This record gives sequence, C-alpha cells and structure tokens, in this order.
Amino acid sequence: MLVCSCNFITEKEIADVVVDLLNEDCWQLIVPAKVYHAMQKRGRCCGCFPNVVDIIIRTTERYHAERHSTDGEIFDFMTRLKQFHEENRRADLERRQKGHRAA
Ligand code: FES
Repeated sequence: MLVCSCNFITEKEIADVVVDLLNEDCWQLIVPAKVYHAMQKRGRCCGCFPNVVDIIIRTTERYHAERHSTDGEIFDFMTRLKQFHEENRRADLERRQKGHRAA
C-alpha cells in the first residue's frame, strides 16, 4: 500500500527500514525523518508522517514480540515510543496552528 505519495514509498518499504534500524539497535527511538533519511528521501508535505508513525509503532511491537524481549522491556519501550510520538504530534500541531494564525 502506498503511504507516501510525494516519494512513492510503500508500507512494506517503511516496515523493512524500521526492521533494519531495529537490527542495528533494537531499543532506539525511530521517527519518520530517521526512516526517510535511511531511504535517502525526505518529507516534502509530511502529510504521511502520522501513518509512518503508526507503521513504526506496529512494526516495533511485532519486532519485539518475535524476539523474546521480556514483557517489562517491551512495555517500557513501547510506552516511551508512544509518548515520544504523541509529544511530537502535539508539537507539530501547535506549530501548524501558530503558523496558520500568523498567516
Ligand atoms: S506524502 Fe509523504 S512527504 Fe508528502
């Protein structure tokens, strides 16, 4: 399924890059910009980023479920990952609202 229409990136391509990044460091926090950088792409309109975040979270959950990480490790990490993305989403929304007011 096509996720990013600006760069023609599919869900599978994103999930594959997330797995590659997790293979390098399975506890790192992955953001859309890191995924796109690894693909040598960049966000243009960034409208796909919320979907990319969902793919990152799903892929990371699946990755750890398949690798026998302890429930405690997974819970702590997924809590941090979701909180991190939620804070970024909120900050992005605030930036957009401020930009809209200034225009
Ligand atoms: S849809 Fe992905 S950058 Fe525009």
